[in-house]
Amino acid sequence: MTADRRPALEASDLWFSYSARRPVLRGVSLTAAAGEITIVLGVSGSGKTTLLKLCKGLLGPQRGAVRVLGEPVVAGRRRRLDPGVAYIPQHLGLVRNSGVLDNVLTGALGRVAELPSLLRRLPEDELRRAQALLERLGIGGKAAEKVYALSGGERQRVAIARALMQRPRLLLADEFVSQLDVLTSRDILTIVRGIAAEGVAVVVTTHEMELADRYADTVIVLRDGEKVLDRRAQAETITDIALALRG
Ligand SMILES: Nc1ncnc2c1ncn2[C@@H]1O[C@H](COP(=O)(O)OP(=O)(O)OP(=O)(O)O)[C@@H](O)[C@H]1O
Ligand SMILES: [Mg+2]
Repeated sequence: MTADRRPALEASDLWFSYSARRPVLRGVSLTAAAGEITIVLGVSGSGKTTLLKLCKGLLGPQRGAVRVLGEPVVAGRRRRLDPGVAYIPQHLGLVRNSGVLDNVLTGALGRVAELPSLLRRLPEDELRRAQALLERLGIGGKAAEKVYALSGGERQRVAIARALMQRPRLLLADEFVSQLDVLTSRDILTIVRGIAAEGVAVVVTTHEMELADRYADTVIVLRDGEKVLDRRAQAETITDIALALRG
């Protein structure tokens, strides 16, 4: 246990609507602790992506508040350059026509420099770190490839490596194993477990309840914009999850 006992992420009573219509999040709270995996489960349209965007400050709630490491998150402010919070969007956000190593290096920009044009002038140790992360993720040999030439699972690994370049305290990953076959998603989640074990708070969204059962320390279930279950993962949780998902 570190000296810092504040939860890495505290989102409380979040309300959000994209338009004047019915809110897509209604009073959702979420806490994520360092060293743990929190899985946000919900069917398509339940509000998972919206929740993560609020946590990252890409959207601002109409009501409620988000704090990361005790600091309030203000939507729009420094959102791209905050290295403490790594966000892997649902479609990964990689630059397909760029090389793998360059994609990974952009993860260092929040810490090192502000402009992509400075990529080539990153310190040598950042280049070494990027290469080491690719090795750790099992794709060291792909550093010179273009992203478009990679498989889906390899792209997930590039996105994780880019996120880890930030040296984040909080990793928000949106639905990022849902497109993969079971074995590949297990590999990826085993890697994510290792990241959490190093003290990162990890929040992953998914609609696959088996993943929650297997990898989560805490599971929350969203249904139609409301949190209908929030608990430490235990052997009997899977039945409760199934009930909560369907309503
Ligand atoms: N930019 C937007 N403008 C208007 N409505 C939106 C927008 N983005 C999402 N929504 C609506 O908000 C609701 C929640 O969407 P969200 O993307 O958060 O769901 P999700 O749980 O991530 O779904 P999925 O599993 O398909 O990714 C949906 O009804 C969706 O249509
Ligand atoms: Mg989504």
